[in-house]
Formats: sequence, structure tokens, C-alpha cells
Amino acid sequence: MYLMQVAIDGPASAGKSTVAKIVAKNLSFIYIDTGAMYRTCTLIARDNQVDYGDEAEILKLIDQSTISFKNKAGEQKVYLNDKDVSLAIRTPEITENVSQVSALAGVRQKMVELQREMAGKNNVIMDGRDIGTTVLPNADVKIFLIASVESRAKRRFLDFQEKGIHQDLKDIEHDIEVRDYKDSHREISPLKKAADAIELDTTNMSIDEVVAKITNLIEKNQ
Ligand code: C5P
Repeated sequence: MYLMQVAIDGPASAGKSTVAKIVAKNLSFIYIDTGAMYRTCTLIARDNQVDYGDEAEILKLIDQSTISFKNKAGEQKVYLNDKDVSLAIRTPEITENVSQVSALAGVRQKMVELQREMAGKNNVIMDGRDIGTTVLPNADVKIFLIASVESRAKRRFLDFQEKGIHQDLKDIEHDIEVRDYKDSHREISPLKKAADAIELDTTNMSIDEVVAKITNLIEKNQ
């Protein structure tokens, strides 16, 4: 059976995971949130009081751990060994430091290996920064999702509000810009549109419109 691969890349808070989850559910594809995997590596460093730049120590700890995704009541959860870390990986401290950990060559090598292994058995939608360029260079559909930094910050602000977290809109905007800069200027697999990716600017699009557009692109390729 032919397995289909869909790669969705783009900057922080462009709505990649929101739309990828819906499309995956509608089409019965598996969804892999690669950002969650780098966040979990960052959590491993934090929980063990290891410096975020200490590659050797972080790699040793990753080797002793299992990062996986499991479905719980219809929702995808991230597990570190047998612990649900879905919320723990979204704290400001992890968000602030994940770009440093994800820039480490050895960490990327291990995660890419794991991501390819996860993608090997099912139709898959994977989102991240380097999926179309590095992880799944032969993906059937590649999408590069962008939106203005103002609209991305506003979405994140509303998302936080819903969860009862208060953070200043300007601070969110600043954090997004800093993370995008780091992710697109690192040496290995920086955030970059693949040459054959379709760019989709979602600044003025609703979630439903983005979902419809991506579904249409996938169905055209099936
Ligand atoms: O997608 P999310 O914002 O959760 O990603 C968190 C971080 O993980 C990114 O800012 C980036 O540093 C890293 N990342 C990466 N490569 C990917 C996905 C995420 O380097 N494929």
C-alpha cells in the first residue's frame, strides 16, 4: 500500500498544529508534532538541571528516555517515558529555551531518525520547521504556512487568555520574533521553505479555510 506524506512547515504560532490535527483526523492520517519532540528534549534537560547547551549530557539523557505520542480520549498527548508531559512542554521556560536545544546537531539527528521511523508505517501529516527540507524531502504535499507576526501574536494571546494565562501582547510578539530568528539562522536544518513547497499566507484566513485548502491539495495528490 502506498503511504502518503504531508509536510507542514512554518514559523512559530502560524497555526500549523491546529490545522494539521483537524486535517489528520478528517483523513484518518496520523499526526506528528515534531515541535513537541524538541520541547520534550528541552524538558529532559530542565528536569535534570543540565545546561541547555550541554549536548553530550542531553544526548545521554535522551538515550535513556522514550518520547512517544498516545491518544487519550481522542486527543493526542506527548509522553516522556510513561508520563504525560503535554502541558509541561508548553511553559514559557521551555518555549524560551527550545531553540537552543533544537539547534544541537546530535539532538536533531536523533529526533529526525525517530520522526522518520514514526512516519514509516502510516499516512502521515508532520509539522515542524524542517520537514519538507530534511525529514521527509520526498513528501507528496509540502506546505509552508506563514502569517504576519501581529496576527500570530494575537492568536497566541487569545489562546493564552482561554487557558487563563496572561501575557502582554507585545511580549508575545517579541518572543515569537526572537524564536523565529533563532530557528531560521541556526546552522543545521534552519526554518526554510522547501523549493517545492506551496506557501500559504493565513493572515486573513479562518482555520476552516486553511483546513479546506490543505485538504484540497492532499486530495489532488491522492
Ligand atoms: O512547533 P513548536 O513551536 O512547538 O516548536 C518548538 C521549537 O522546536 C521551535 O521553535 C524550534 O526551535 C524547534 N523545532 C525544530 N524543528 C522542527 C520542529 C520544531 O527545530 N521540525
